[in-house]
Amino acid sequence: MRPCGEVLPRTSRARTTGLNLSAMATDFTEETAADAVVDSFAETPDPRLRELLSSLVRHLHAFVRETEPTLAEWERAIEFLTATGHKCDDERQEFILLSDVLGISMLVETINNRKSGGATESTVLGPFHMIESPRRELGDSIDFVQTGTQCVVRGRVLSSEGSPLPGAELDVWQASDQGFYDVQQPGVQPRTNGRGLFTADADGAFWFRTVVPSYYPIPTDGPVGTLLNATARHPYRPAHIHFIVTAPGHRALTTHIFVAGSQYIESDAVFAVKKSLIKEFALVDDPEQAARYGLAAPFALANFDIILQPGQPA
Ligand code: BEZ
Ligand code: FE
Repeated sequence: MRPCGEVLPRTSRARTTGLNLSAMATDFTEETAADAVVDSFAETPDPRLRELLSSLVRHLHAFVRETEPTLAEWERAIEFLTATGHKCDDERQEFILLSDVLGISMLVETINNRKSGGATESTVLGPFHMIESPRRELGDSIDFVQTGTQCVVRGRVLSSEGSPLPGAELDVWQASDQGFYDVQQPGVQPRTNGRGLFTADADGAFWFRTVVPSYYPIPTDGPVGTLLNATARHPYRPAHIHFIVTAPGHRALTTHIFVAGSQYIESDAVFAVKKSLIKEFALVDDPEQAARYGLAAPFALANFDIILQPGQPA
């Protein structure tokens, strides 16, 4: 006598119930595999989770059927993802970097920030917004190293109807003229070099002094670097300045401006360039204008008017 509740092996169950083995179960085949897994999610209480998982499985199965990886290749893929996880810690997020170089971050960003009318386009956040920007006054410099071309960035924050957004906040961060963020060069750059939190004036206007940033490589000392290497891709991002702009009653905007003519503007390693965000950093060789900004001529001048869409800031 078997104890009550004991699960019989398949073959014994078939024998005891007298069922035909071949009629019992649907075989796992190349053709039925995706359906079998998708069906297994049928009782998922959250419909959005069910949709996401079902679509993910269908696309992954289609990829496997199309490319027919060998067992060794699949093992290599698992090793790669394992190494990607091991490279992550509180400060380094290798999975986001992987999503960046595969163009996924930019695709998600673009889908979630479809712009209406003339609103300023968004782009990726990136990993270097990791320390809080210090509050600074309009006109302050965020460059405490002073080894490169000095520059002024100015513009206005406006609604989509063109009215100024007084008191809009602009969180700004950038790499130096040598292509490094402050957090990458402790002891060389003072902490918070290249960072500032500014409040636009009553006309929605803002301006600050800085250095023209350089292009720079994304981190390549992990699996993402290995992937770039194996695919003969370079790791560089064109020169840019990051912004997060917020104003009451408007959607927060995460974006950059790109320095027109910068190397790699046509081949950003993370696919984040949008044409509307490329700005001239025009050289101004006028001592009077330079003096008005507290600079020596020549200096670079970039204009960036920012149009926010109505909505909730978060
Ligand atoms: C950045 O611009 O800071 C960045 C964006 C994506 C990956 C790496 C760096
Ligand atoms: Fe950056």
